[in-house]
Amino acid sequence: MSPRIKDATVEAVLAAADIVDVVSGYTSLRQRGVTFTGLCPFHQEKSPSFSVSADKGLYYCFGCGEGGDVLTFVQRMESLSFAEAVEQLAERFGVPLEYEQGAAPDSAARGTERRLSTLLEKTAAFYSRYLWESKAGENARVYLRSRGLARAVCETYQVGLSPDAWRGLHDRALQEGFTERDLEAAGLIVRRPGKAYDRFRGRLMFPLADHRGRVVGFGGRTLGDDKPKYLNSPEGPLYRKSHLLYGLFQARRTIADADDVLVVEGYTDVLALAQAGVGNVVASMGTALTDGQLDLVTRLTSNVTFMYDADRAGTEAVMRSGELARRRGLRPTVAVLPGGQDPAEVATAGGGERVRTLVGGKVSLLRFEVLRFLERSDTDTAEGRVRAFDGLREILARSTSPKEREEEVRLLADRLRLSPENVAYLLEESEREARNRVKSATRPQGGEVRLLRDHRERMRSPELAVQREFLTAALANPDTSAEALAGLTPEHFVDPVCAEAFAGLRRALTSPDPKRVLKELIGGDTEVGRFVIGLVMEADTGLYTQAMLNERHLRLQEQHLRRTVAGLRTSLEDDASDADTERRLVRLEVLLHQVRYLLANVDEG
Ligand code: UTP
Ligand code: MN
Repeated sequence: MSPRIKDATVEAVLAAADIVDVVSGYTSLRQRGVTFTGLCPFHQEKSPSFSVSADKGLYYCFGCGEGGDVLTFVQRMESLSFAEAVEQLAERFGVPLEYEQGAAPDSAARGTERRLSTLLEKTAAFYSRYLWESKAGENARVYLRSRGLARAVCETYQVGLSPDAWRGLHDRALQEGFTERDLEAAGLIVRRPGKAYDRFRGRLMFPLADHRGRVVGFGGRTLGDDKPKYLNSPEGPLYRKSHLLYGLFQARRTIADADDVLVVEGYTDVLALAQAGVGNVVASMGTALTDGQLDLVTRLTSNVTFMYDADRAGTEAVMRSGELARRRGLRPTVAVLPGGQDPAEVATAGGGERVRTLVGGKVSLLRFEVLRFLERSDTDTAEGRVRAFDGLREILARSTSPKEREEEVRLLADRLRLSPENVAYLLEESEREARNRVKSATRPQGGEVRLLRDHRERMRSPELAVQREFLTAALANPDTSAEALAGLTPEHFVDPVCAEAFAGLRRALTSPDPKRVLKELIGGDTEVGRFVIGLVMEADTGLYTQAMLNERHLRLQEQHLRRTVAGLRTSLEDDASDADTERRLVRLEVLLHQVRYLLANVDEG
């Protein structure tokens, strides 16, 4: 556990960090009045719906509903924890960090962590210089050329070469003031009693960076036939293979832009694809993806395309990784390579064009599973087809999409020469099994995808537009809106998020300290909070006049009356003798008329 950062520090960081400056590092912003707008860095769009308010220190996307302050922004963009985001911004804007007491022992640990981090960075730079500048590097340079990897892409990934000597790095690091203990902790040397030697000798070095671009370890490829082909850093506090994706730091923007991540197996696959102009690529480093690795991409996209080696191990890894992705509510697809090849070979031989064609021909994971299964089944005999039939039912049940299942069954009907009754049976059974699976499986974590969908629905509904505009106008006209808010109830707002926002605004605008209440409402990174941020930003546009507040207020009342009247009519249909309801209905209908009359005569702002 790292120590808690003092609230005062967090406040100071929020005050010092320039949100426009920070956001500008991810998307270009143009000033429009008091707000800045640009293309949203969180979702793909062609026209700007992302705005940043410099004086309020907030950002909001009207397209996807993402919003918050500068800390939320950095957390989301860089996949950082709250504390990490505070630390990063504190460093950038020169705010001294203060931790709650009890921090002393941990800051020693933090010091060590920093030193090891520096050591790893320096080592990567040293290996890279050694590759390009030393005479001994010629072999490796020739090797890279023979594999079609140009210097530019190697430099992007900071590829290097470790000296073919027992203590090349060791001696160099000691000269620079590092200790053997540092080198060992960083996984760079092997220490035996009385002697120590470099772990990586004469290997092509691939620095492994975390999502922030900090080097945490290395993969070293032999230039000959030594075993292992790749030697990796030992697992430790810094390097945890299951929580790293090779190339993520370089690829993250492209992944977000493409709304798709291409997952390959190897380091060289990443380099070859990036060089061929396919930048949204990361490597799982030889094995199936882990949950920890999936965590790193779900913030950026929910589309995961596997491009694994076209061999048995690759196919099995796709199945396992794909299933994991599916269980998290992601959309796994598979780009199938020609037999025996890996992405690097395809990219080097055929270039970006060829890779894009293969990606374009990707199939759903379900289709991939079905095809692989059919390959292994005997579909020539009736008996074989019956056996295949059972296995397929189970495969079909893995998909959560009925539409997808139906498509596969159509394919199978043909391949297995199924009768219409058997097709119906296959569908029904897989349907039933799929339902059972959903019940027993851990809930898929499609949270962000759902958020986007809910947000878009909320933005589309005309009824909700009135409610949203009313709330915005209330914020834009705080002197007069308290009264308007006081006369309304949460029932005037059909959408639960709108209703909650209304209650919060009413509390804020009728309180002696509206700013504080509003801040509480906005902070905390909740759906309502994000929604209110959107309202606050919108209120700044200057479009929400007093006249508009009045008009939307009337329309809200009209909506509410209309709903109530309709409800009463329905209940009278059930029981026409209810005199009380009858009287109420008449009264409300009169009111509704009055409101409509007023509405017809207001001039809207
Ligand atoms: P591959 O054997 O497919 O290597 O392993 P590659 O990436 O295609 O490398 P080249 O093109 O032959 O140079 C795929 C990935 O598995 C991990 C590495 O991350 C490698 O890139 N791996 C493989 C290891 O960690 N250790 C090994 O011994 C082999
Ligand atoms: Mn390979």
